[in-house]
Amino acid sequence: VAAPAAVNPPGVVGLAAAELHPSVNDPLLDSMNFLNEVMDRYPDAISFAPGAPDESFFVDIDVAAYLQRFSDYLCDVRGLDQAGIRRALFQYGPSQGLINDLVAEALRRDLQIPAQPQDVVITVGCQEALVLALRVLHRDGDVLAVVSPSYVGVTGAARLLDIPVVAVQDLGAGPDLEVLRSECARVRALGGRVRSLYVAPDFANPSGSRLDLSTRKALLDHAERLDLLVLEDSAYAFTAADDAPLPTLKALDTTSRVVHFGTFAKVAIPGARVGYVVADQWVRDGSGDVRRLAVDLATAKSMVTVNTSPIAQALIGGMLLTHGGSLATLGRAKADRYRENLRLLIAALRRHLGDPADRVDGIGWTEPTGGFFLRMRLPVPADEALLHRCASEFGVLWTPMQAFYIGGGGEREIRLSCSYLKPAQIDEGVRRLALFLADIDARD
Ligand SMILES: Cc1ncc(COP(=O)(O)O)c(C=O)c1O
Repeated sequence: VAAPAAVNPPGVVGLAAAELHPSVNDPLLDSMNFLNEVMDRYPDAISFAPGAPDESFFVDIDVAAYLQRFSDYLCDVRGLDQAGIRRALFQYGPSQGLINDLVAEALRRDLQIPAQPQDVVITVGCQEALVLALRVLHRDGDVLAVVSPSYVGVTGAARLLDIPVVAVQDLGAGPDLEVLRSECARVRALGGRVRSLYVAPDFANPSGSRLDLSTRKALLDHAERLDLLVLEDSAYAFTAADDAPLPTLKALDTTSRVVHFGTFAKVAIPGARVGYVVADQWVRDGSGDVRRLAVDLATAKSMVTVNTSPIAQALIGGMLLTHGGSLATLGRAKADRYRENLRLLIAALRRHLGDPADRVDGIGWTEPTGGFFLRMRLPVPADEALLHRCASEFGVLWTPMQAFYIGGGGEREIRLSCSYLKPAQIDEGVRRLALFLADIDARD
């Protein structure tokens, strides 16, 4: 798209940025754009920046066959005739979704989450589900606790919705529950309440952290005592090795404290923009009637995107059905590839930079067992200027971590993603990164 003129033409309304909602002037909301711009500017650089899926998985996707598979299902299982099938796919549809039964069944089967179709809302990506839940669950002034560092989609959405956020530091294997407790007490002393905690227990973006079983239980225990809802983002849970499964928080949740979020962006295709939320909480209205929270999320959704594209849902539904209705089966080949890429990335770091435990120069990195990301510590601030120098002189890109931290932190950290690169690029990228780090060292 051509850049607009620098000045609005005479006689045409000019809007002051200061009069727009303050969130749009917040650099946090621009952090995704910033990375896209950097990637466009250095097209030949090897990029450890994007958390996007490997595009070779798109090559064999036969959209027509998947749509046919779902149409057959509508006929055979739901008894629709051709007109009914056309209506389901081409007409406006229910805000709560079209493939809720398939998603609920997959969650029951693969993740032992006891979801019923009526507990599920199918959303425009996980991102919309997060926005809807933040909006519906937080009254004016209610505070969201966020594990820091965290996915900017959550903190950015909170900013967009004027929801105040408090940070709970990630200790590497989970949130600091002492800080969670003290932040809840601090907010309460000020007359407010922390309503919910956002956490990604399985290979979080950007930290790669995974919570062990006892931390999951302790977290749920704290949520109970502090009367918090837990917003569980499971975007990368599918990458866990088959021999190392851990229950989701939702599977461990006996009191309906956990709202569970997922996406088909990483196990299927991000372009379909299909995600989901399991919101089985009981909501009581003034006359004592009860309904599921999913109903309220769908009501909010009807004012945002009306319904998730039925064609996109049908595509995902067809993909699920073709893989036996199983999320795990749908994601298996991808999970294997991403785990292999992560292993190659860690091996390349060790080959070119040695054992992180032996380094004494401020360089270090985490070694997660799943997800798309690891984080690396540098001996100098990892700011935009450093990223441009690394890209222009060494041909390698990464993501500065600072934007992922709430209230400061991460100034010397970068995120490396393994999802978008071919194995040979991973080794070459790390070789270049090592040269860049040696150059930093030589300049100091
Ligand atoms: C942790 C996390 N949650 C949610 C999302 C958004 O997923 P979707 O593309 O389904 O909106 C992402 C996207 O990268 C993510 O990293």
